[in-house]
Amino acid sequence: MGKAEKDYIDRLDAQYKRQSVWTKDYRNKIYRQIGIKGARRILEVGCGTGAITKEIREKSSAQITAIDRDHLVIATAQENITEVEFYRMSVEEMSFRDETFDIVLCNYFFMWLNKPFKSLMEMVRVCKTGGYIVALAEPDYGGWIEHPDFGLGKKHIEGIKKQGADPFIGRKLLSLFESGGLETTLSVVANVWGKERLLEQIKNEWKLVLETEQINDEEYQEIITKEVKTIEDNMRMIFLPIFSAIGKKIKCVQKPSTPP
Ligand SMILES: C[S@@+](CC[C@H](N)C(=O)[O-])C[C@H]1O[C@@H](n2cnc3c(N)ncnc32)[C@H](O)[C@@H]1O
Repeated sequence: MGKAEKDYIDRLDAQYKRQSVWTKDYRNKIYRQIGIKGARRILEVGCGTGAITKEIREKSSAQITAIDRDHLVIATAQENITEVEFYRMSVEEMSFRDETFDIVLCNYFFMWLNKPFKSLMEMVRVCKTGGYIVALAEPDYGGWIEHPDFGLGKKHIEGIKKQGADPFIGRKLLSLFESGGLETTLSVVANVWGKERLLEQIKNEWKLVLETEQINDEEYQEIITKEVKTIEDNMRMIFLPIFSAIGKKIKCVQKPSTPP
């Protein structure tokens, strides 16, 4: 890995680790619901640098497999986490046999997929009947609320669309999973960002806007000064709903149909 690649992956890794902390308690609840402790085989798709993989490894004695289509993140995950089988593979076409895993899960994943339904059906195929397909966290930027309105939410929506991703995936999870013939429970984490998280995260949030070329360096510096002052005065509020879905693969799987 060259220096530029290493810097890029280190930034991603730090971002994924930070992100994973925000919904940690919520994930623990889901892990209990789906019984990860007692599972024999678990697959994580879109594992990135392994923020969630490491956590699952610590919580379960199952045989764990993790895939990602990006060779750089897979190499990093492999370097940092032991006793997990990592593969570079796309979720759209996995080489695992039908009904291999008790649990197939992912985190901040569906929003980045070109073909979410096709991908879900592959996850269903490799999951055992009676097992679970789980989207641990998928945001919906349509539910973003901020005050004062500095336009950060709107810029995120544009930036995410520009990258070919879906900023409104959260609201679509239920129909996606039900169309895949899964018995689905949908839930949402609704936390207001606290002052500490705002101070820690606000530069990264606007950096994403800068990276998608919606503002220039000068505008970036200006908005950060304004943001930090507002946050320190305890006047800044940001809220973003994060959805999750637990889908049970039932015996008589309905014929899958394309989601609305
Ligand atoms: C936002 S990251 C999340 C990483 C990790 N799940 C986490 O929460 O830290 C999404 C990951 O999905 C991977 N990805 C996107 N499309 C994929 C596909 N079709 N097959 C496998 N991985 C994919 C990306 O390479 C990226 O590592």
